[in-house]
Formats: sequence, structure tokens, C-alpha cells
Amino acid sequence: MAKNPIYSCSACGSSFTKWSGRCDGCGEWNTITEDAGLSTGPGAKALGAKRGTGVTLTDLRAKETPPPRTQSQMTELDRVLGGGLVPASAILVGGDPGIGKSTLLLQAAAHFAKAGMKTIYVSGEEASAQVRMRAQRLGLDDAPVQLAADTNLRNILTTLEAEAPGLAIIDSIQTMWLDTVDSAPGSVSQVRATAHELTTFAKRKGISVVLVGHVTKEGQIAGPRVVEHMVDTVLYFEGERGHQFRILRAVKNRFGPADEIGVFEMTGAGLAEVTNPSALFLSERGTPSPGSVVFAGIEGTRPVLCELQALVAPSPHSQARRTVVGWDGGRLAMILAVLEARCGIPFAGLDVYLNVAGGMKINEPAADLAVAAALLSAREDSALPADTVVFGEISLSGALRPAPQTENRLKEAQKLGFTSAIAPKGGKAPGVQGMALNQMSDLTGFVGEVFGAG
Ligand code: TYD
Ligand code: MG
Repeated sequence: MAKNPIYSCSACGSSFTKWSGRCDGCGEWNTITEDAGLSTGPGAKALGAKRGTGVTLTDLRAKETPPPRTQSQMTELDRVLGGGLVPASAILVGGDPGIGKSTLLLQAAAHFAKAGMKTIYVSGEEASAQVRMRAQRLGLDDAPVQLAADTNLRNILTTLEAEAPGLAIIDSIQTMWLDTVDSAPGSVSQVRATAHELTTFAKRKGISVVLVGHVTKEGQIAGPRVVEHMVDTVLYFEGERGHQFRILRAVKNRFGPADEIGVFEMTGAGLAEVTNPSALFLSERGTPSPGSVVFAGIEGTRPVLCELQALVAPSPHSQARRTVVGWDGGRLAMILAVLEARCGIPFAGLDVYLNVAGGMKINEPAADLAVAAALLSAREDSALPADTVVFGEISLSGALRPAPQTENRLKEAQKLGFTSAIAPKGGKAPGVQGMALNQMSDLTGFVGEVFGAG
């Protein structure tokens, strides 16, 4: 029987039955190669008569003790890791170039080393002298961190095996290369191969590895998504260049809650931890103005208050603009549609801008009501009371759905001097002393009560 070869794209992984110069899946050129030994269809090779050895099966009852953890004493970092560093784990730290990944990891390396963990920092981007100079500037030069400046992964692995550290930091995965892979460092095949070597090495030798990864313009770790699947934990280091706040966000964590955040501030002396992010995010807030609303959010396990700002203005264009920073554009379109269809408040012909202050990014559906409030407040040119926070999810019918952890949100708001909250009806909502809770069941009611319209 004839064998049907399969061709696959090394950039996006799509497979094809025919070779072509350009991948139909991702549009990349010269990334399609024949997958040796892989074929499907009627001609595909069956497993054959050769049998494998059995694999061991166990049941779910066996007692497992939680993994031991080492704390860096940087509480913001330890929280995002799920309570500290787990031995033999592989962690990917992604972020835009220049956002502060090397600074963060050098500080983390120094803290782990001081906490008694043998730590090796491998820089493929800077010379050892540069890293030392940075350490001196950060006042970390007394930490017992071992440095190397190399990009040849084979040599690095040999060294790590001989030195047997508890933690190895590889800065960055895009600079590493293996001589078995026939392409340049940073290419998809090199990133995939070096990340695979490092993660299996971590498991085999019981060494925790941190891989630093640059993010492309599209917001993905350069190289295939497959790196994210290989590691135990994926952290993103986010922030706006013009702002000093940096947020370390867990987007995947096999050893702890995802969506947990750690907040840092970039200062002249490196990254400083921000233990009370709400106060920081609200610090730039002036007198209450139309379009500004404080959202009582939850990030991971902790409440975070932040300010949403909306601007609504007649559009000079035939197609009105919708611009969002820090929130999902699709979700904004949905809120606008619900306001129009359920409450009869049109936004056609109006440009809409929405911004989350401080460079924060919000993913929570509970921000819906705060966004709607900001949009209405901007449209009606009427400010909400300065002492009020807003939260709650909006459904397509215009009903308000209760948000989780109402009590935590209220407590945080009260701690920061707010005295009232607008939230959906229902759900567990134990009152918090000193906070007037105004509960509403649908968006129309909210519009009528707060803006006297609808
Ligand atoms: P860096 O950690 O090199 O970024 P990355 O590794 O993500 O590319 O950080 C670079 C930026 O951080 C640089 O623009 C200068 C700034 N920075 C400070 O503001 N203060 C500091 O103490 C340090 C070390 C860096
Ligand atoms: Mg760097």
C-alpha cells in the first residue's frame, strides 16, 4: 500500500496532505516540512505485532503529601507561585522586552539564594559583567548566586548536572540553542527543542527551572504555544511602559491557583513589592468626574480595586470607534449591545473609549456592571458618587448576576474609605459594617435608579 505522507507547519502545527510554500493555517512562509514516520489515511502503518510493556495503574486513594515549597521571601512572587517554589518544577515567565523580567528574576535569584537554595542564573542576553553591575545597583551583589553567560544548551545542561542547584534561571529561552536542531536560536524549532530539554531535565534531576520568554506583538510567547503546555507554571509579567506598575500574573499553575497576581513597582532600585495594590491603583484618582467608576474586583485570591475610565463623544467618522485598554473589546461590544437592546440607550454615532487606570488588565466578568456604569456616566455626563464601588456580571437579557466573593470586595472597599456599593441581587451577600449595599436585579433598574433614565 502506498504511504500518504503528512506535511506540517513548524510554526502553528497545522497539518496538510500536500506541501506548499506558505502555511494556510498561519500564513508563515517556508515552515512546512514532511513529518517523517507519520502518516494517516488508508495507507497508514498500523502499530504492528510488536507489543509494548504494560504501564502501572493505581487508584485515586493513595495519600499524597503536598509538595514542599521554598519561599523567596518576596511575598508577591511566592503568592503567584502558589505559596513558594516547588522542587523540580518548570516555570515560564513571559513578557514584553524591557518590561523587567531580568530584573525580577535576578532579584528572585538573590532572594532564593539567600534563603539557602543553590541558584544558578544563566544569561544568554547579557555578559556576566552586565548582570553583576545590575546586581550591584540593586544592592544584591552579596547574594550567593552563581552566574553564567552562555547560550549553548548542551554545555549549560552538563554544568547544571554537575553543580546540581535547586534552581536554574534561563534568560531567555529565545537565545538558547541545541546543535541537534538545524535552525537559528529563537526559531520555533529551537525554542521547542530547548524548552523540551530543559523541562524534562528539571523533572529528571529534581532541579527547578525558570525559562524567560519574550512575547510577540500578538501577545504570545514567541515560538509555539507548545512551550506553555510543557511547563508546570506560566507567569506573565505585564505593565505599560509609561507606568511604573508591573503585574506578575499566573495564567497556568499546576501547583496553585491560576489568575493569582503579584504587584510590583519599578523604581530606581529595582522592583519593589506592592502589598496594597488597591491604594496604588486609586492613588491617581482625582475628584469624581463623569465616566470614572471604581470597580471592586478579585484577582486570584485577593480583592483589588481599580478605576475604570470611559469617554463617549460624537463620532466624526462614518464608523464610530470602540477603543479599549485593559479589558476585552468583545465584552465591551456586548455591554453596548445590551444597553441598546434592553435599556434603549443607543451608542450609534458615538465614539467609545474605555481605559483601566494604572496599566491594570481585567479579565473578570464581574467588571461588566462597572463598565456599563462608566459608559452611562460618560454618556450622561454625570458622575457617580465618589464613595461608591460597583461590581456584577451582566447577562445578555440585561439581568445582573451575582459575583463571587462579595464580602471580600466589600471589605476591601471599606478599608479604602468607600461607604457604598452597587451590586447584583442574590448570591451570598453578608453585609459589611459601614458599607451600604445597593442590590439590583437588572440593568434597566440600575439605569433608572442611578441615572434617572431608562
Ligand atoms: P529588564 O529587566 O532588562 O527587562 P527585560 O528583561 O524584560 O527585557 O528591565 C529593563 C528596564 O527596567 C529598563 O528600561 C530599565 C528599567 N529598570 C529600572 O527602572 N530600574 C532598575 O533598577 C532596573 C534594574 C531596571
Ligand atoms: Mg532581559
